[in-house]
Amino acid sequence: MTVTSESDCHLTMFTIRAVTAEETRPLRHKILRPHLPFETTAYPNDYDNDTLHVGAFVNDDLVGIATVFRAPMPVEQDSILLNASWQLRGMAVKEKMRGKGFGAALVRACIQHITQQGGGVLWCNGRTSALKFYQSLEFQTIGEEFESPSGTGSLFVMWRYVKETA
Ligand SMILES: CC(C)(COP(=O)(O)OP(=O)(O)OC[C@H]1O[C@@H](n2cnc3c(N)ncnc32)[C@H](O)[C@@H]1OP(=O)(O)O)[C@@H](O)C(=O)NCCC(=O)NCCS
Repeated sequence: MTVTSESDCHLTMFTIRAVTAEETRPLRHKILRPHLPFETTAYPNDYDNDTLHVGAFVNDDLVGIATVFRAPMPVEQDSILLNASWQLRGMAVKEKMRGKGFGAALVRACIQHITQQGGGVLWCNGRTSALKFYQSLEFQTIGEEFESPSGTGSLFVMWRYVKETA
């Protein structure tokens, strides 16, 4: 998928495509958990059958990443949706490349993946600092704000429905 982003009157061509878990790990470390050992950038669901890792590329430079995998939302919910819950994790865009639509394009690629698998619920432990980003993508918060056990700041569980068809 090739996308054109218009920001500050500059057009930036970028491509969204599937990447490996290994490709995401340097950006996961640099952007999301620089204070933690590199080993912590491996997530337990990285190699599940349904897991998708996506990257945003400008030329050959990987500028943004996201991962989505099946995982129950950690709140009480409709039992029908229990088996159709997906977690978004490792959502990050290089600092100098933010505000150009890369993050939104990566989430949309994850949503498309869920749609292809029959739809359901997409949720994340979203940083409070990224609340407006998630709200712009139709996520809503559920429950109280809480502190990340890994020391990355305050979080909300944020979620949205994903339809079966686009
Ligand atoms: C959060 C993050 C991934 C957003 O990526 P991005 O490429 O800058 O986001 P986009 O350019 O696609 O923005 C999409 C929308 O969210 C809004 N948005 C993004 N970041 C925002 C912010 N910090 N404050 C307010 N709005 C914001 C944009 O204005 C845009 O809204 P619009 O569609 O109305 O124009 C990026 O800022 C980032 O990597 N932050 C550090 C890591 C992080 O916090 N990751 C999330 C962990 S839960």
